[in-house]
Amino acid sequence: MSAMRYSLLILLAVILSPTISAQQHALNLIPKPNKVVYGEGTTQISSSMSIFTTTEYEDLIPLLADFSEIAQLPLKVIKKVGKKHQNGIRILPAIQQDNIPEGAYRLQIDESGILIKAGETQAMIAGIYTLIQIGLLEKDPSILPQLTIDDSPRFTYRGLHLDVSRHYMPISFIKKYIDIMALYKFNYFHWHLTDAAGWRLEIKQYPELTSKAAWRTHTNWKEWWANGRMYVDQGSPNASGGYYTQKQARELVSYAAAKGITIIPEIEMPGHAEEVLAVYPELSCTGKPYTQGEFCIGNPETFTFLKNVLTEVMDIFPSSYIHIGGDEANKQHWEKCPKCQALKQEKDLKTEGELQSYLIKDISSFLQDNGRKLIGWDEILEGGLPEGATVMNWRSEKEAIDAANMEHDVIMTPAEYLYFDSYQSDPRTQPEGIGGFLPLDKVYSYNPIPSEIPEDKAVHIIGAQANLWSEYTPVYQQVEYMVFPRALALSEINWTKQEDRNWKDFHQRLQEHYKILQKLEVNYHRPSYDVHSTVIFDKEAKTNTVSLSSEQNAPLIYYTTDGTKPSAHETPYTNPFLLSSTSTIKAASFIDSIRVSPIETIQLDIHKAINKKVYYNTPWEVYAAQNELTLTNGEYGGLSFKDLQWQGFTGSFDAYIDFERREEIKSVGMRFMQLPGPGIFFPDKFHVYISDNGKNYREIDVVKNEDDYNNPKLQFKTFQVNLAKPQMARYVKVIATNPKGGYLFTDEIVIH
Ligand code: ACM
Ligand code: ZN
Repeated sequence: MSAMRYSLLILLAVILSPTISAQQHALNLIPKPNKVVYGEGTTQISSSMSIFTTTEYEDLIPLLADFSEIAQLPLKVIKKVGKKHQNGIRILPAIQQDNIPEGAYRLQIDESGILIKAGETQAMIAGIYTLIQIGLLEKDPSILPQLTIDDSPRFTYRGLHLDVSRHYMPISFIKKYIDIMALYKFNYFHWHLTDAAGWRLEIKQYPELTSKAAWRTHTNWKEWWANGRMYVDQGSPNASGGYYTQKQARELVSYAAAKGITIIPEIEMPGHAEEVLAVYPELSCTGKPYTQGEFCIGNPETFTFLKNVLTEVMDIFPSSYIHIGGDEANKQHWEKCPKCQALKQEKDLKTEGELQSYLIKDISSFLQDNGRKLIGWDEILEGGLPEGATVMNWRSEKEAIDAANMEHDVIMTPAEYLYFDSYQSDPRTQPEGIGGFLPLDKVYSYNPIPSEIPEDKAVHIIGAQANLWSEYTPVYQQVEYMVFPRALALSEINWTKQEDRNWKDFHQRLQEHYKILQKLEVNYHRPSYDVHSTVIFDKEAKTNTVSLSSEQNAPLIYYTTDGTKPSAHETPYTNPFLLSSTSTIKAASFIDSIRVSPIETIQLDIHKAINKKVYYNTPWEVYAAQNELTLTNGEYGGLSFKDLQWQGFTGSFDAYIDFERREEIKSVGMRFMQLPGPGIFFPDKFHVYISDNGKNYREIDVVKNEDDYNNPKLQFKTFQVNLAKPQMARYVKVIATNPKGGYLFTDEIVIH
């Protein structure tokens, strides 16, 4: 190309570019939109602009209050879109020529200002929140990047749940929760209003639900649970709890509706109803308070009560979905109750499961007669699903697939990926929680469509929801801590197409959303600097490949492999590295040269027992991990006992290894986990024996546990016997005694 033609091109480019020019940057929107096309320049919001809308969307204009530079502009509600509406902020219905699909919105920022178009209210609300998020992400929200966004959701149901029974939460907080939900394009708030720990909704026909069943002896759920689980009269000296009046609930419904969010109330039946049966014991099989948590299905009064309650509930909540619980009912009382058994016989019901289903079906018809639809937890499959019921799947994907195969809609809320009461960071560093280990990247990895669902049934998976059970979150700040930022990962799971999702890209965009959460004064979980390792063992080559990371987006990690403390003098970690011998890695995070995390020690053993067969004298139970391969696969378990490296035993551990020839034995060690919540304890004694013939064993040593069994925190401990003088033996046997009838969990037998 000649020099002159080249400069002409530059000149043209300068002339054609808009007057306000800025370095264009990609927006860090969450959830990521389907399509963004960036223009060249920026658009300034100026005081000479007006907001134009039509009557269809006039009610949505108050949402712009969250974008103050726009909110202060004059509003003009127009009857017909004409030429003079070609500039300014325009919130307008889509017309056919726009080619905007159903459920989608288009947001354009160009020289003329801002234009959002959509064919439906829900889609327009989503478009408005995209604009609000752009305002929050920009340093100067009055100068916006020029672009066109075309966007629509992957799923129609995008939910977040809150349990207000275990701990009552103030309405002001629930409004804040709804505000954040709207910003991240959630559209259903599942309000878990009733459970053993307290009834939370005023029901005019049954005043004792709120004058007594809403109040308990201890503020903290755990203390209350451990101390008799009693209810007390409202206003009595130790009464703790609360409830929402119908007026408050109605106001909240309108507040949420204005932001595109439907509130689904949940009234638990037939189980999780201890609080109801404490004040109306005649509705239980025993007729006595504090004896059971399940309604008596054989008593017609139960149906009268539930329908009366639901009538008031439906009057408050216009939601087409009404959640009736249905989970975890204990069927024992029904088995012994003459009324329940009489009903079973009368209706020819074969099992207690069918008895439960009888109630759920009756309630479902009642809701349908009132123009509503029933949602229940996946236990409602047992004994037969009612026609038209939607299943909320929380256990395994099997129930979801079964329900979808029967043409029922399913909302995915798997405990494994979306129970936000699980720990999100190393449990040893976290406030006490219910257990589990669900870090942000694991949440993000979730795909609501089960891989084994028949293709034509996938349409029945209508979306996903995360649940926040509040046993361990007595105050709202702790709810915020557990829910954020994990809810932002769910926001993208529900909205963005699976093929457009990418953890690294999300994690990078998230960095800007920490600032938004700060602006909104959300007590979100700050990403930790603690170092995590992932080790992949190559069985054939007997090498370990080690990756190091932290919750930070771009961590600076230094490490050593010679047992010394890491410092900023080493080379920083960049890529996974390979080790082919027994090693101790020490790693930590740094900011510049300052260490900002504890030193993480990663022990890697290339040991004699790897690939050797383990013979079990007592079997593992339930937690098989990788069966016989688990304890000699060269790999250690992580923070979760469900990660398929940890094997569980309900009896004592008793197993041996046959080396098939004599070997020199210097040490025998096994690591155990302790986590008292789910009943996992260290062994009390760890015995090691050797033998040459597999019949006569000689004990070489025993290690006693000296740790406290009452410490509720997650702990790991290696029990190890070292031989002062190495010995030759063909067989090595270990017996680790189970101290409390709970579980022993171990991940590897390490023999050097
Ligand atoms: C549940 O977690 N029981 C639904
Ligand atoms: Zn009964």
